[in-house]
Amino acid sequence: MKRVLSGMQPSGRLHLGNLVGALRNWVSLQEKYECFYFVADWHALTSNYQTPSVIKEYKEDLLINWLAAGVDPEKSVVFIQSKVLEHAELHILLSMITPLGWLERVPTYKEKKEEIKDRDLDTYGFLGYPVLQAADILIYRAEYVPVGIDQVPHLEITREIARRFNFLYRKIFPEPEPLLTEFPKVPGVDGRKMSKSYGNAIYLSDSPDIVRQKIMTMMTDPARKRRYDPGNPELSPVFQLHKIFSSREEQEEVAKGCRTAGIGCIECKHVLLKNLFLMLEPIWEKRRYYSEKPELLREIAEEGSRKARLVAQETMRIVRETMGINQ
Ligand code: TRP
Repeated sequence: MKRVLSGMQPSGRLHLGNLVGALRNWVSLQEKYECFYFVADWHALTSNYQTPSVIKEYKEDLLINWLAAGVDPEKSVVFIQSKVLEHAELHILLSMITPLGWLERVPTYKEKKEEIKDRDLDTYGFLGYPVLQAADILIYRAEYVPVGIDQVPHLEITREIARRFNFLYRKIFPEPEPLLTEFPKVPGVDGRKMSKSYGNAIYLSDSPDIVRQKIMTMMTDPARKRRYDPGNPELSPVFQLHKIFSSREEQEEVAKGCRTAGIGCIECKHVLLKNLFLMLEPIWEKRRYYSEKPELLREIAEEGSRKARLVAQETMRIVRETMGINQ
């Protein structure tokens, strides 16, 4: 079985966009690959070192959401980056062979520095973010990395670092490929892409009442000012959510109802809510289950980290031998 690896930063709560865009894919990959999924808590520290306590909170929430969405610790290795110290050792060795220019050119580096003004990113750790990510991936000699399109530059630099290592010493690292899957874009309640930084997200941790309130106050086609004004469903973010969460027939029904003013926006939203609740209820139930069992969560993370460590230690043995150090 080929090996898949991916991670998420515990830097915010997970929302429907993360569920549709990443988590569902992680769950289905478990059937065909040997999967390693980890909480990238050191990565979260690169941009949140001033407030490490928030990371702790999000770390647990992340694990709960993964398990609730169907990541199965019997099938996949689920672990915490900071519990596998070998990532740090490989990171420092890879940092020796990574030219500064490669890091300065990474688009996410420049963009984040432009975008984030409320936190300091002028650190060595933040510049080295992609080297740490390369270590995360290469230490498991993973072949595929399911990520969003924004992570492709990090995968490119990972391959370049692997190639440089293989060239300088000996070929031990495969060059990992991103696994990009087409996902529908999930709009937030204001119609823009769902994102924690826009304040328009529906979180997996939202209660049913909050989800209901967020949907019921959501924007629709602005042309439908009154109940009997016909609308264009394509202009309504509510309809975009129907396309993801409702059946074909229901989509056709609400679209027709919108165009002919046969149904009102409230009715249309009720259909969406019914489907959202159907999908979310089992997740909410499992979230409750795991939230009440912090020891079980800790055990799962410990056991996964132990399994990850075995692989990471073996890679580090080979790396040290290849570089001729610590012998
Ligand atoms: N940079 C990734 C993100 O922000 C998180 C991450 C860290 C990761 N290490 C990784 C993803 C290794 C895939 C593989 O989404």
